[in-house]
Amino acid sequence: MAQVDLLIRGGHVWTPGGFVDLDLAVHQGRIVGLHEPGQVRDASEILNADGQHVLPGLMDTHTHQREPGFTHKEDFITATRAAAAGGVTLSVGMPNVNPPTNTAERLQELIAVAKKKVLVDFNHNPAGTIPSEIPKLAKLGCLAYKVFMVRDTGRDYPHMPGIGIDHHGQLLDIFEAVGETGLPLMVHPHDQQLMDTIEQRYWKRGEYDPRAYARAYRDYEGIIWDTAIGLLLRLQKATGTRLHILHMSTPGGLEMVRRAKDAGQQVTCEVNPWAVFLGNSWERVEKMGPYILGFWVPDGHAEELWKGILDGTIDLVGTDHAPHTREEKEVGWENMWKSPGGEPQIQDYLSLFLTEVNAGRIPLDTLVRLTSYNPARIFGVYPRKGTIQVGSDADLVLVDLKQEKVISNQETYTKCGWTPYDGRRVKGVPTCTLVRGKIVMKEGKVVGEPGYGQFIPPVAFSSESSARSATRNAP
Ligand code: DOR
Ligand code: ZN
Repeated sequence: MAQVDLLIRGGHVWTPGGFVDLDLAVHQGRIVGLHEPGQVRDASEILNADGQHVLPGLMDTHTHQREPGFTHKEDFITATRAAAAGGVTLSVGMPNVNPPTNTAERLQELIAVAKKKVLVDFNHNPAGTIPSEIPKLAKLGCLAYKVFMVRDTGRDYPHMPGIGIDHHGQLLDIFEAVGETGLPLMVHPHDQQLMDTIEQRYWKRGEYDPRAYARAYRDYEGIIWDTAIGLLLRLQKATGTRLHILHMSTPGGLEMVRRAKDAGQQVTCEVNPWAVFLGNSWERVEKMGPYILGFWVPDGHAEELWKGILDGTIDLVGTDHAPHTREEKEVGWENMWKSPGGEPQIQDYLSLFLTEVNAGRIPLDTLVRLTSYNPARIFGVYPRKGTIQVGSDADLVLVDLKQEKVISNQETYTKCGWTPYDGRRVKGVPTCTLVRGKIVMKEGKVVGEPGYGQFIPPVAFSSESSARSATRNAP
């Protein structure tokens, strides 16, 4: 047996075929062997994984990293530190930065800056709002495009000009341009016209507080979400473009996606941790107001999300990690329309889901598929990422399913310095994160260095070849 850099010994290891007791040999950043326990003895370094589950590192396809432009909330270093702490080895940024990443020039600049700062591997979803830029963005190696159907009213962030399109004809142009690249189009579904009417009704009655905001986004069982999802699915059918729907939270939306999948449409979707752990309680809306909005997800709706997770309607978990400062949130008690939605998520979501694994709500294997295997396949970085097999990058997270802890603001790595889960008890904790064989987090302490992370294009990516044939890599 040739010498290896690192041997991860004694763990219960996830593989696509199930969990097995294996020792993992890592050399030059890649997995080079999966061995019967005790078979390999020689390694430059040994990492003891006794009593731990060894999972593929998490891939978060939806991280608001905030740089450039909003670095008072978060930046590449702090976002990826929080990622490393949470078991995330590949974090994909979002385009609502300043300037918004809707041109190739801006994406190129962002990648150059991020490369020098990130602690874990990265990519970035540019805004696919300018059709002529779409093919140029693919040539830079992006994994997908993002379009918000939201236009902010009352505030100018997080949905500023340049990233939002609510005109159906323009959306059709975008679907067609993205379809030519073969990459997925991620959309935040939202019916701006219905929302304009609905929110005016609240404002006329003088209702601006978090309760009013929560209700407005959920009026008529979430009509603003469902009409948008209906439109997106129809545009998908018309164009054949791979559609990835963000922020699933309504039973109506789930039902439409389920039917579209049954009919063979190329659609995938995500659920966010806030939908099943935070926004899913009216009591929390009342007590925590701006600090949990986002969006209210009524109890029965959250149950439907769990069903969608278990029956495969929901493909993956995207964190929607969306840090904002306390000052920005405080404004929301008075007028929630002036306060930005979203909260930090990336550091805590694995523990929150592991707690549900311990409670028997979701199998650990399903969780791995939602958080790494499926995102890697859908976004074209599999089998380099998202799995544990010979030849894959040694992106791993060790978890202790028995360890309990209370999440706290003091331990959070996000720049905004708070987590909506402060005080919550969890059972199941990431204890070590490795990116390409290098430990970046150990026992909750981030030890990775800024600039270690690499830009990860689609596996079959070549800037010379036509993007369409190169990147069709979905399951
Ligand atoms: O609540 C949200 N926050 N929704 C979004 O669409 C964006 C995000 C953010 O960037 O803060
Ligand atoms: Zn988002």
